[in-house]
Amino acid sequence: MAGIVLVGAQWGDEGKGKITDLIADDMDYVVRFQGGNNAGHTVIHGGRTLKLHLIPSGIMYPHITPVIGNGCVIDPKVLLEEVDRIEADGLSTHRLQISCNAHVIMPYHKDLDGASERRLGKLEIGTTRRGIGPAYQDKSSRMGLRIQDLQDEHIFRKKVEAALVEKNDILEKIYGLPTYTVDQIADEYLEYAERIKPMIADTSQMINKALGADQWVLFEGAQGTLLDIDHGTYPFVTSSSPTAGGACTGAGVGPKAIDRVLGIAKAYITRVGSGPFPTELHDETGEMLTQIGGEFGTTTGRQRRCGWYDAVIVKYTVQVSGLTDLVLTKLDVLSELDTIKVCVAYEYEGHRYNNLPCHQTVFHHAKPIYEELPGWKTDITGCRHFEDLPKEARDYVQFIEDLAEVPVSMIAVGPSREQTIMRRWDPRP
Ligand code: IMP
Repeated sequence: MAGIVLVGAQWGDEGKGKITDLIADDMDYVVRFQGGNNAGHTVIHGGRTLKLHLIPSGIMYPHITPVIGNGCVIDPKVLLEEVDRIEADGLSTHRLQISCNAHVIMPYHKDLDGASERRLGKLEIGTTRRGIGPAYQDKSSRMGLRIQDLQDEHIFRKKVEAALVEKNDILEKIYGLPTYTVDQIADEYLEYAERIKPMIADTSQMINKALGADQWVLFEGAQGTLLDIDHGTYPFVTSSSPTAGGACTGAGVGPKAIDRVLGIAKAYITRVGSGPFPTELHDETGEMLTQIGGEFGTTTGRQRRCGWYDAVIVKYTVQVSGLTDLVLTKLDVLSELDTIKVCVAYEYEGHRYNNLPCHQTVFHHAKPIYEELPGWKTDITGCRHFEDLPKEARDYVQFIEDLAEVPVSMIAVGPSREQTIMRRWDPRP
C-alpha cells in the first residue's frame, strides 16, 4: 500500500498544486476526492502555467492516471471546457477517469447557489456560486444525478423530471427565477454525455487494485481543513470533507490505504469568502501580503483576506487529519518584513485558548496572542537547502514546527518547482 493524502491545513489556497507537482514523478495515480470546480490549482511545470479547477493536476504527467473520485461534484460543461483547454495546450486528457458515482452539477444548482447567497445578503457565505452546495444538498437528500446516469437517457430524463418538480417550484415561487424543462436540460447534458462516457469508470476498484499492486496513489484534497463541512468554521465552509478522512469516503478506499498525510500551510494565512478569521490584517502589512503573495483567487479572482500564521489552526489540522508532515509554502513572501508575528493561542473574556475553541462565539471574538520573531530581510528565493536560509528564517520554520509537533518536510521559497527546499522528504522511504 502506498497512499499519500495531501490536504490544505488552513482555509484553502495553500499552494497544494505546486506540492502535487513536486511529488508527482513518484506517483502512478492522482485522485481528487471532494469538491468540484470551486477549487483552483495553479501548476507551473516545464515553463507553462496551467490553471485547473476540476481536473487533478496529475493530468500534466503522461505516466499518471488522473482520477475524479466519487466524492466530487462535476459540472460537465466546465469539465469539457477544461479538457479542451488542456488539449489545446498540447497535453493529452485520454487517461482521465471519472467515478460513475460522482454527482453532477445541474443548471438549477448554479442558479440556486447564487439566489441563496443573494437572499442571505450580509449573512452570505461567500460561495464560489458554482452550484457546489446545492449539488451536495441533492446528494444528501437523494435527489442528485450521478455521472452514471449520463449513460442511460431514459433514467437521466426520469431523474431530471423528478428533480424539476421541486426545483422549478423553488426557482419560480421562492426566487422568481426562470424554470427548466426536461428537454432543455436533456438536450444540453446528453450532448456532454457522449464525450464523458469513455471516461466513466469504477474508480474505487481501480485505485484499490493499484494500491494492492504497490502502485503509488496521491489523494489530492481541494480547499482546506477549516472549510470542512464537519470540522471547519461552520457555516462558512464548503459542502464536502477536505480533511484526510474525506479521501477514504471520496475515493472509496479504507483507512489502511493511507501511509502519509501531508498538510500544506502558507507561511502566513489567507481566506476567501466570509467567516471568522482571528489573525486577519486590515493594515498595510495585510495589503503587502496580498500584493507580494499575489493573493487573488484562481477560480473567482476575488482578493483573498490575509493574516499572520495561526499555529492554533494548524495544530487543529494536525489533529483532525492526522498529519504526518507539514509543508510550508510562500516563505519568501515574508522576506521584506522587519518582524513577523505568529499566533500561538487566543484570548476571549480573560481566558486563554491554546486549542481551537469548540464554541463558535469564542472563535468569532477570539483575540490572537502573538509571539513576534525577527524577519530576515533577505531574498531567499535562491535557497535550495535548509542551511542556505538565513538564521531568522530557519528559526521561524523551527518555531512553526515546534508548535505543530510534526516535521516541516518541505519549504517553498518561490512559485517554480525548483524553488523548494526538500528538507525531510524521501518519497519512497
Ligand atoms: P463553495 O465551496 O463554493 O460552496 O463556497 C463555500 C466557502 O468555501 C466559501 O467561503 C468559498 O470562498 C470557500 N471556498 C471554496 N473553494 C475554495 C478554494 O478552493 N479555496 C478557498 N476557498 C474556497
